[in-house]
Amino acid sequence: MTKVYTFNDFGGPERQELIDAEIVDPGPGELAIEVRAAGVNPVDWKIRQGLLGKHGPLPMPMGREASGVVTAVGQGVTGFAVGDEVLGLVAPGHGAFAERTVLAADQTVAKPQEISFDDAATLPVAGATAYDLTHQVELKEGQTMVVVGAGGGIGRMAAQIGKVHKFDVVGVASAGKRELVESLGVKFVESGDGVAERLRQLLPDGADLVVDLAGGEALRAAAPIAKEPALVITAADVDTAREVGARVVERTSEGLAKITGVVQYGVVDPTVTARYPLAEAGAAIAEVEGGHAAGKVVVIP
Ligand SMILES: NC(=O)c1ccc[n+]([C@@H]2O[C@H](COP(=O)([O-])OP(=O)(O)OC[C@H]3O[C@@H](n4cnc5c(N)ncnc54)[C@H](OP(=O)(O)O)[C@@H]3O)[C@@H](O)[C@H]2O)c1
Repeated sequence: MTKVYTFNDFGGPERQELIDAEIVDPGPGELAIEVRAAGVNPVDWKIRQGLLGKHGPLPMPMGREASGVVTAVGQGVTGFAVGDEVLGLVAPGHGAFAERTVLAADQTVAKPQEISFDDAATLPVAGATAYDLTHQVELKEGQTMVVVGAGGGIGRMAAQIGKVHKFDVVGVASAGKRELVESLGVKFVESGDGVAERLRQLLPDGADLVVDLAGGEALRAAAPIAKEPALVITAADVDTAREVGARVVERTSEGLAKITGVVQYGVVDPTVTARYPLAEAGAAIAEVEGGHAAGKVVVIP
């Protein structure tokens, strides 16, 4: 048996529970792992709330990204062996907040020695999204990138990628995250009322790229600073993107391997700020569900 954190119906956090489940063999194209760490993402509570549709068998395991050690290799999988240290996205029907889980082999990569299991667990969803967001529009050295939500899981990595490319990076975040943002060498702009004016004051000629991780009013306020609407890319809010003429992030198959390489060389730090044991996965999810997480939250079985 293995412990798995699940929700037993679509709805609020009261639907979440830690259960004992059978250990299953990996199917074709899958890898079974003993989990070492799992990243928490907004999508975890969005799925539980039914915001992405109310389908799939219940109880539904929670958590999308994990690192761990391979315990079994499914049919047709090449390039992985039992004992390998890996990081990847969970296979359909499986969850990362568990002692053991199953990954999709085509969305899994070897974990470099230089990356801790905790950091590795933040790359399949958050890290790869940060990579894709910052590579959808090609900027040159010295061009300006605004990151809305720069203190969060994806935003902090996106801002660091911008610095690696020598972009002039401006991070929008709440006042409490000033230090977290400025420690990256990023210019800080406080979010909330008046943010559009503060951005305009700092960037009178506008921005070459706006990367948005907050959506809604924050996206509406920041979008006009871009030199044109197509230079605004959001991961957070499809409807507001349509309203302001922004683009939605296009996920790629190479983002995971690329961000893993970048983190391996030590130039981007996923910045794990909170670790919760599996029995307290609910508190970890609540921290992210609050909408103001700093860096990445991970669950450790
Ligand atoms: N499409 C995809 O493939 C994909 C993949 C992964 C994630 N996502 C989405 O991307 C979004 C961000 O994910 P994440 O993991 O980075 O979430 P996160 O770690 O919760 O970070 C979100 C950040 O936004 C900031 N924020 C909230 N309201 C803001 C405002 N008005 N102005 C500026 N910043 C504000 C929050 O902190 P402060 O307000 O305290 O500064 C927080 O740091 C989520 O909606 C998630 O579902 C999409």
